[in-house]
Amino acid sequence: MKLKTIEQHILDQQRKYPGASGGFSGLLYDIALAAKIIGKQVNMAGLVNVIGATGDVNIQGEVVQKMDTYANDLLINILTNGGKVCAIASEENENIVEIHDEFLVGKYAINMDPLDGSSNIGANVSIGTIFSIHRKISKGHKGSEEDCLQKGTKQACAGYVIYGSSTMLVYTTGTGVHGFTLDPTVGEFILSHENIQMPEPCKIYSVNEGNYNYWDNGTKKYIESLKEVDKTSNRPYTSRYIGSLVSDFHRNLLYGGIFLYPADYKKDPKKPEGKLRLLFEASPIAFIAEQAGGYATTGTQRILDIEPKHLHHRVPLIVGNKSEVLRYEEFLKRG
Ligand code: AHG
Ligand code: MN
Ligand code: MN
Repeated sequence: MKLKTIEQHILDQQRKYPGASGGFSGLLYDIALAAKIIGKQVNMAGLVNVIGATGDVNIQGEVVQKMDTYANDLLINILTNGGKVCAIASEENENIVEIHDEFLVGKYAINMDPLDGSSNIGANVSIGTIFSIHRKISKGHKGSEEDCLQKGTKQACAGYVIYGSSTMLVYTTGTGVHGFTLDPTVGEFILSHENIQMPEPCKIYSVNEGNYNYWDNGTKKYIESLKEVDKTSNRPYTSRYIGSLVSDFHRNLLYGGIFLYPADYKKDPKKPEGKLRLLFEASPIAFIAEQAGGYATTGTQRILDIEPKHLHHRVPLIVGNKSEVLRYEEFLKRG
């Protein structure tokens, strides 16, 4: 079997699509580098806590940071030094991170969730990094918020890294979804999952069912329907919920399933909004899902068609096997 590293894969893609510039490949390479470093640090997280417990200073004399701050700072550092980006929007920053004068300004804007599912880290549960790349559309030399505030259909690339029993990077540039597993002995991401498609049938549902009483009637009825015995499989759907979007989505992508974070009607029935963020979570995950034959909706609107109102715009997110997500939309319509 021929081993293919992520670098080779990126170069092959570039050759296939003559329009693709080396700058874009360099950017993906920078993200892969950051992923390797964050993955190492995630593996050390339990020990860092022990070492840093007394004075909040780790063994190298550095102040111990929360893992999500660490991942955010590291990504910003690598991306700005790489010279391929014009603006960075992060779940961890209120406003966009501008590129300082000392760095080159590139043609791409990045939206990212540096560490997704970080509340799970203390329990050794898988977490991830999510990223979304847009082309620069603003006129000035430097990038602006406009470059980050583009709807999902405009994404040039989306991906995530999962720090699990192995570290994996999964991405799409609109020509299928490809997964790479980190070989820690040589520090390379190796192509392990080429052209991933969500398998049928959809057997799994993933939702925080503790929120049941906050949901609208359509969502409640849909979830109840999954507990009835299915005629073909002779069993109800299986419930699986980790509480890290990357991990829940990744499992459903490989096994077939639907993930739901519906609107919370109790908070404000007139203006229901979800918990997850459009730019940093919903949009990149939706791009990957559609490329794998799946679909993502708010219940009434395709995620990729939503115009972001501001950087931290939140939306309901229902994503998974297409037939199943459409079935959910029907339940919602009927109420
Ligand atoms: P983050 O750690 O980036 O803030 O994201 C947490 C998100 C997401 O990963 C997960 O799907 C969801 O929160 C879980 O929320 P609940 O704990 O409300 O179920
Ligand atoms: Mn998140
Ligand atoms: Mn996060």
